[in-house]
Amino acid sequence: MHMRLQFRSPEKLVLVICFFWWPMVESQVSNPLPKPARALDATLQDYAYRAFIRPRTGIPFDGIVPPYLTGIKISAMRLRSGSLYRRGVETFKEFKLPVGLREQPYVERLVLVYQNLGNWSTTYYSLPGYIYLAPVLGLLAYNGSDLSASNLPELDLWASEEAITIKFGKVSPIPVGSVAKCAWFDLNGQVNFTKLLSGNVCSTTEQGHFSIVAESAVPPVPVPPAPPESAPPKHTPTTRKNNEARIWGIIGSVTGGTALLVLLALFILWAWRYNKRKRMRELERAADAGEALRMTRIGSMRAPFALATRTMPNFESDFGA
Ligand SMILES: *[C@@H]1O[C@H](CO)[C@@H](O)[C@H](O)[C@H]1NC(C)=O
Ligand SMILES: *[C@@H]1O[C@H](CO)[C@@H](O)[C@H](O)[C@H]1NC(C)=O
Ligand SMILES: *[C@@H]1O[C@H](CO)[C@@H](O)[C@H](O)[C@H]1NC(C)=O
Repeated sequence: MHMRLQFRSPEKLVLVICFFWWPMVESQVSNPLPKPARALDATLQDYAYRAFIRPRTGIPFDGIVPPYLTGIKISAMRLRSGSLYRRGVETFKEFKLPVGLREQPYVERLVLVYQNLGNWSTTYYSLPGYIYLAPVLGLLAYNGSDLSASNLPELDLWASEEAITIKFGKVSPIPVGSVAKCAWFDLNGQVNFTKLLSGNVCSTTEQGHFSIVAESAVPPVPVPPAPPESAPPKHTPTTRKNNEARIWGIIGSVTGGTALLVLLALFILWAWRYNKRKRMRELERAADAGEALRMTRIGSMRAPFALATRTMPNFESDFGA
């Protein structure tokens, strides 16, 4: 009796199971890193430095990002800080570095790490109420003395004479009725908007992340924080193994959970069908008993029914022709 009550609506049971299962998956997936964008900076610094196999000063070296960050481009350039200050850099990807750049604390050699976040821009730099017309580009300065270092803090870098300019390659068309602006995210994630210079050029006096944005036509919808799955683990040599293990753990638990759910659903469906068949058999038995009873009472009623069912196939074949 009790079993039948439960199995009569298998969908509900599956939902209930999902409900109880989900928090377990969720709690494993969600990454407690407070600032995914900062963790990404650390990861990209590490991978950008690996591009220096035979380091030469003043030459950009393109790095390779780990597969789970496919879509992001990185590059690194090593410079003597004295020469950066006196000569600047004519072009480093989209950036033009003027003379007069200074860093704090002073280092003899520094490395500029370039990031193009591509299709990951909104994941790491969500800006509710705005749409990106160009990818988010980053420029960050690090101590360049030890090229095998990871988890380096950024140096303070600022332009003491002219501004750094960023010439974005491809800019999406501005939505009708909107105005394009430059967006600059400092290292604390604070965003500032400045005027766009000549269509696709922004300027800055500091390092950080930059893009061109426009207010989106639709009113801003509260956007949930960046999907936890994509929050990158902080990849430093000491934690890389742990993170890999954790990622596999997550994948394993999700796959296992899904398989278990499917099995459960199948079992429930089977039990429900079995139950239904049993009930049908009971009903049939009851009906047979009832019919037997009726037959004894009104004996001739059976003939017309039998006739009706026999004529049905003719009907159907008429439609089919
Ligand atoms: C970005 O594109 C790459 C393929 O080019 C894909 O593997 C990756 O998942 C995409 N990232 C996002 C956040 O959509
Ligand atoms: C830069 O790195 C070198 C080598 O690791 C270290 O000796 C130096 O103190 C660092 N400079 C600063 C300002 O942190
Ligand atoms: C950026 O914006 C904040 C407020 O949103 C402001 O306090 C700060 O001075 C701005 N910084 C620059 C460099 O414009």
